[in-house]
Amino acid sequence: MSIKEAYHSKVSDVILIELPKICSEKGNISIVENNKIIPFDVNRIYYLYDIPAGSDRGGHAHKELRQLIIAASGSFKIILDDGLNKREVTLNNPNKALLLPPGLWRELIDFSSGSICLVLASQEYNENDYIRNYQEFKFFKENK
Ligand code: TYD
Repeated sequence: MSIKEAYHSKVSDVILIELPKICSEKGNISIVENNKIIPFDVNRIYYLYDIPAGSDRGGHAHKELRQLIIAASGSFKIILDDGLNKREVTLNNPNKALLLPPGLWRELIDFSSGSICLVLASQEYNENDYIRNYQEFKFFKENK
């Protein structure tokens, strides 16, 4: 995947997807399938849990990684930043998934007690894909 997408991505490119949901009196199922619900192959799944009250996560951008983020339990907010504009999204429903292109700075805040942040990612973990310094991120976006 080209890094060009990360240079040009905007907070308005981020979409909230309603996942298919199968309901029964015994509970619900929501489904995510490669190249149907999401436009990439999932190569990694990770999840944040046992997040202490007041903890913030994120504080970085990715150069190529695409992610689908789901509040599998509880709620939290994601503050997105493309270098020009910011956007805040609350995730509080396991039936809704936020599709993030690369090239967006993100902060995850206001985790409710017992919340679980489930992330489906397009690539394996690679520290070289991270931009962890905000000034570096601004430089990256401005010098596309
Ligand atoms: P990081 O992505 O910075 O966490 P968050 O955005 O949720 O605050 O990752 C935190 C640490 O965990 C960092 O040292 C990298 C490591 N890590 C892995 O080794 N593999 C992974 O798949 C992820 C997501 C993180």
